Amino acid sequence: MKREFAGSLRATDVGRRVRLSGWVHRVRDHGGVMFFDLRDRSGLCQIVVSPQDAAAGTAARLRPEWVIAVEGTIRMRQEGARNAKIATGDVELCDVALEILSESDVPPVLPSAAEAPDEAVRLRYRFLDLRREEMQQNLALRHRVLQASRRHLDAAGFYELETPMLTRSTPEGSRDFLVPSRMQPGSFYALPQSPQLFKQLFMVAGFERYFQVVRCFRDEDLRADRQPEFTQIYIEMSFVGEEEVLGLAEGLTKALVAEAGWDLQLPLQRLTYQEAMARYGTDKPDLRVPLEIQDLANQAGAFDAPFIQTALAQGGVLRALRAPGGAQLSRKQWDELGREIERFGMKSVPYIALTQEGLRGSLAKAVRPEAQDALVQTLGLQTGDAAVIIAGEEERVSLALGVLRLSFADQFSLRQSGHRFLWVTDFPLMEWSEEEGRAVSRHHPFTHPHPADVDRLEAEPLAVRAQAYDLVLDGVEVAGGSIRIHERPLQERIFRLLGLSEQETKDKFGFLLEAFRYGAPPHGGIAFGFDRLVMLLAGVPSIRDVIAFPKTAKGSDLLTGAPSDVAQAQLDELRLRVQEEAKR
Ligand code: AMO
Repeated sequence: MKREFAGSLRATDVGRRVRLSGWVHRVRDHGGVMFFDLRDRSGLCQIVVSPQDAAAGTAARLRPEWVIAVEGTIRMRQEGARNAKIATGDVELCDVALEILSESDVPPVLPSAAEAPDEAVRLRYRFLDLRREEMQQNLALRHRVLQASRRHLDAAGFYELETPMLTRSTPEGSRDFLVPSRMQPGSFYALPQSPQLFKQLFMVAGFERYFQVVRCFRDEDLRADRQPEFTQIYIEMSFVGEEEVLGLAEGLTKALVAEAGWDLQLPLQRLTYQEAMARYGTDKPDLRVPLEIQDLANQAGAFDAPFIQTALAQGGVLRALRAPGGAQLSRKQWDELGREIERFGMKSVPYIALTQEGLRGSLAKAVRPEAQDALVQTLGLQTGDAAVIIAGEEERVSLALGVLRLSFADQFSLRQSGHRFLWVTDFPLMEWSEEEGRAVSRHHPFTHPHPADVDRLEAEPLAVRAQAYDLVLDGVEVAGGSIRIHERPLQERIFRLLGLSEQETKDKFGFLLEAFRYGAPPHGGIAFGFDRLVMLLAGVPSIRDVIAFPKTAKGSDLLTGAPSDVAQAQLDELRLRVQEEAKR
């Protein structure tokens, strides 16, 4: 008899004899009558074995997570025993013949438990953790979204092509994972941080539309939305400008999110980087939070505070952020908020609060009494609200207010329901690196400067805008891309601006510049952070929950024990020596 899926059985199947196989999910003994749920990928089905049944002896032995095959007849459950929570809750299997296919020790992660154990245990026994319904659903969603992307891109004329994993470094702003070469001792491959240059070479090679579902490797500090290896949907197109890439990416996004049942209205909202920073204090604003930063430059006269005038005189800004209900925050809570913005060189949060008794807060005394009403009105303060007011250098003020905006969202539960996508465009081409004491690419050095700004490259490199764009969903960057430089002289100019010597340029990117000698089409593209997107679609807090075998924050794989020691013989073969102090 052909095997059927447990989760597919319904009242319309009553009377049929079926064969199921799967895992024993839960066992209950009701005075000799055994009830157990059989679980397979599709769901659960209840099985009943009475003491007089031939299968009773076998049924009595069953324990959670044993693997069984069962044949039986479907019948309606008794009136009071129906379970609306599961799809098969109206029916059960009776008159069964049972076969044990495999036994299980007591599992350290029990798929039927209401709560999952610690993440360390889950990762150590990932093969059991993945049996949990939530993980099954997350990975099923991942599969569907991936297939949808392949269908969509194939239909749009893209070729799915592959690029090497053993390659040389592409600068994406992280450290490389290196792989030593045995055949060329002392030389190393780098695992790709992204196949950026290969996708550009595909354009030079005339493929015009390429995509790849590709693993990228970045040795960076890990967070909930970062893994050292992660998957991108990598896309590149020839003979296009920004509009075509954004249009393609929007259509793709709509198709992908539909797999999670989301209906996306196109076109998506757009903000320039400058607008995003000024209004939300971040380049990835969470638009579910209905708070915007306000510019108070024309209210500067309301304050009798020399530091405000000084900041403005020095070219700085005066900006404010309302905190609805913020008057109830205690001094201690304001101190805690202060610690969140310490990294922007601020010691505390300057604020005013509108209470029944009038204006309070650390900045209240600096507000001129005659200007108070107008200020309160400009800020839109109701009694019980507070407003943070910061003067200083524009970027720091914006970033600090951006951080506080999210803190207020958490503290006062301000996030609205639903999901908000937006494009952030016109990123700066370069930014200043304190660490390196020079301008570095904000995206990567292959990003095309805004044509209108090319003339300013040498004179004002930090003011040059890039033809670069990010797709942001609920405050998370889910995709990023740009129009690329396809003109060899311009690419050489950018390398020079970035401080690369001619020799370095030749060593690292000689092959790209050479390719540009032989007819490079204008091109551009984008890369979706696939894990991040699925994480948001699944509504889970970490990308580890949508990656089958992820790593911990320390980069360990608790299941296999990677990274691990290797045998001396292997090191010898590679002519490598591990420093004494690292051997711990
Ligand atoms: P970028 O570096 O912006 O672009 O990466 C694209 C997207 O990948 C996701 N992402 C990550 N996801 C999980 N873990 C990480 N460590 C991680 N790092 C990045 C983000 C991000 O938006 N070559 C360019 C693309 C291009 O220009 O076409 C690139 O790699 O969601």
